[in-house]
Amino acid sequence: MNILILGSGGREHAFTLKLSQSDKVNRIYVAPGNAGTSQIATNININPTDFKAVKETVIKNQINMVVVGPEAPLVNGVHDFFLADTALQNIPVIGPKKDGALLEGSKDFSKIFMEKHNIPTARYQSFTKENLSEGFLFLETLNSPYVLKADGLAAGKGVLILDSLKEAKNELEEMLTNQKFGEASSTVVIEEFLDGIELSVFVLTDGKSYKILPSAKDYKRIGEGDKGLNTGGMGAISPVPFASEDFLSKVEERIVIPTINGLQKDGIDYRGFIFIGLMNVDGNPQVIEYNVRMGDPETEAVLPRIDSDLLDLFEGVANQTLDKKSFSINPKTAATVMLVSGGYPEAYENGKEMTGIEKVTESIVFHAGTTIQENKTLTNGGRVMAITSFGDTIDEALKKSYASIENIHFENMNFRKDIGFDLI
Ligand code: AMP
Ligand code: GLY
Repeated sequence: MNILILGSGGREHAFTLKLSQSDKVNRIYVAPGNAGTSQIATNININPTDFKAVKETVIKNQINMVVVGPEAPLVNGVHDFFLADTALQNIPVIGPKKDGALLEGSKDFSKIFMEKHNIPTARYQSFTKENLSEGFLFLETLNSPYVLKADGLAAGKGVLILDSLKEAKNELEEMLTNQKFGEASSTVVIEEFLDGIELSVFVLTDGKSYKILPSAKDYKRIGEGDKGLNTGGMGAISPVPFASEDFLSKVEERIVIPTINGLQKDGIDYRGFIFIGLMNVDGNPQVIEYNVRMGDPETEAVLPRIDSDLLDLFEGVANQTLDKKSFSINPKTAATVMLVSGGYPEAYENGKEMTGIEKVTESIVFHAGTTIQENKTLTNGGRVMAITSFGDTIDEALKKSYASIENIHFENMNFRKDIGFDLI
């Protein structure tokens, strides 16, 4: 089979590597990809939200399956676009249609969905500029800190957690009246703050049955000790020690099964990944958010732990035979550390030459923001590269990743030296 993967990050390099190990895969194309994917697949320089260009790529390269990495093409309806086109409708797309992608595309929709299907989540209400004053009143019924969420996609920046009521009211007004996050904040979800430890659980579903992938914890803040600005993710650990069998069975009974059944009841034929952001509140899981894709960098820790053939699983998703597919997970721990450009998540420079990557032998190197020019690997983004290692313990896996990183150099390279600090 020929596969087209949409996206350009470490997540997509991880998909590429894993799919390249399948006997059933012939050629892999990645659009637009990065320096890492170009070494094991063919990069196609198109924008994944340009569906006309995606179609041309699929036809020209006789693609048999499309795997969607990021949320934007899904929320914009790439799967629906395929189903509506006679030349594309028999080519499976791994990722939900627009109706399912709303679980990530609209926080308000996802809260209504959870409420309707009795899925545990923080108490909330949604507001628009027409009922701003009711929003102020709702804030007064809550305790600090206050959680405000832009309804739509806001590049991971749409959630504000504020200590003072006054600040919360100001920000609510900024979001609704002054469109702080543009159209995305024309509706705002206000919810109760959940106090606990976070983790991510990933589910692959064909709309009827499901497989629960390894759990992971990601490290979102730029600074050590989880301080400073939010990033796309600075590292990940899988599995998460506090996600015990007992806790994960609560996740399955209270969240995963009601989610899959809820989608079915609502007539949403969902085929792809569901990324459930959870808070462990006193041993009970509560949903913080749904995403309709895999996480990044969690994918770089989770996929290497899946021993089964990923293409075989994807075929199960496409044909609704996922329940027949074998699924096995490597019990070892995977630790992923992200190398980022100095300055990230604020302004940073691209085009820094990278050296020493080939000296890494004990870890898996996943490229993210990289490109090749005149045979040199250059940085090309804030998050540049993810280094993943296996170990019998978190500590052992981390040591390997940090030892591997010592080989890699580029100007202003930055990374967190304390990934997993709270789990050891
Ligand atoms: P989201 O974009 O929904 O993932 O939110 C970003 C981050 O805000 C989450 O990863 C959590 O750390 C935090 N967060 C979101 N909602 C809540 C909540 N209700 N209580 C506590 N923290 C939250
Ligand atoms: N690592 C968080 C995300 O992918 O959204």
